[in-house]
Amino acid sequence: MINFNRKMSESIKINKALPDGEIYAIILKQVNAILNPEEPLISNLANVTAVLKESFGKISWVGFYLEKNGKLFLGPFQGKVACTVIENGKGVCGTSLVQRKTLIVEDVDKFPGHIACDSGSRSEIVLPLVKDKKIYGVLDLDSYNLSAFNEVDKNNLELLCDLLTKKLPFEKLVL
Ligand code: SME
Repeated sequence: MINFNRKMSESIKINKALPDGEIYAIILKQVNAILNPEEPLISNLANVTAVLKESFGKISWVGFYLEKNGKLFLGPFQGKVACTVIENGKGVCGTSLVQRKTLIVEDVDKFPGHIACDSGSRSEIVLPLVKDKKIYGVLDLDSYNLSAFNEVDKNNLELLCDLLTKKLPFEKLVL
């Protein structure tokens, strides 16, 4: 069992001045080390949001929306209070859910139907969480900067989502 301790808290301090690709390389190793499939999925996902939020200055909000009966419900997150339910096909999250693909939105004002939980948000990336052909939800990251997310984020966050779906028992998730 991995318990939170001082060493672990110190180990997730990352130099935010590093290039994003280097930060992701560190994060991927750390997340792999702290995930514990024997502990509840929600607990594991909560720590993943903390690692991401602590590692990048550009992230204003990061969290999971989890699927139930075709809707997305707010899961573990870091940031301001957010919308609790997103309908299938609505917003960036609901669109990523339906299309089962990563969406990079460089300017949220140009995405028809974007759901503004925080009026300060300017750009966004949303990644689907797919395991054994079933979709369990999405990972959503927002920024107060325009065009904050690019292919480096996409490639690395897709690796992160693969790690999560491979290592954690999403199939046992009950909302
Ligand atoms: N902007 C998202 C909604 C979730 S918040 O960003 C936390 C969307 O359009 O789906």
